[in-house]
Amino acid sequence: PYLAVLNGPNLNLLGQRQPEVYGHDTLADVEALCTDSARAAGFGVRCVQSNHEGVLLDAIHEMRTKAAGFVVNAGAFTHTSVALRDALVTVTGPLVEVHISNVHAREPFRHHSYLSDIADAVIVGCGIEGYRFAVERIATLVGRHRA
Ligand code: DQA
Repeated sequence: PYLAVLNGPNLNLLGQRQPEVYGHDTLADVEALCTDSARAAGFGVRCVQSNHEGVLLDAIHEMRTKAAGFVVNAGAFTHTSVALRDALVTVTGPLVEVHISNVHAREPFRHHSYLSDIADAVIVGCGIEGYRFAVERIATLVGRHRA
């Protein structure tokens, strides 16, 4: 079984982009952290990052009934995309929304998410450690435990 790890626009620039907000770790670090924490719970991962909404939609459609769960940081699409919401509401496994920064301590336009009310959990402001919490939460929700 595998977990889908989706990262949206500009997250390819992690480590270079506003490090005072998002830290110095890179997308490769995030994906390695997800891979390691998923492996510890008995899952593989499929990681997708895209700056294109349609690419993310296609990835969700492809994995929506196959992935055991979804870890999603939709970046700015969080605050804009009904289409991502409509796709993610169809996934069969748990959905955990992650934001590296504490979006609630930032501009008002970041306070609303089109995903939060359809997510099983929302993790904000924990830095990239939030991805590990998300993986562990999905493992709990689907009843898998560390070997
Ligand atoms: C983000 C927060 C969003 O508001 C922003 O557009 C991002 C990253 C985060 O991880 O903190 O791109 O999702």
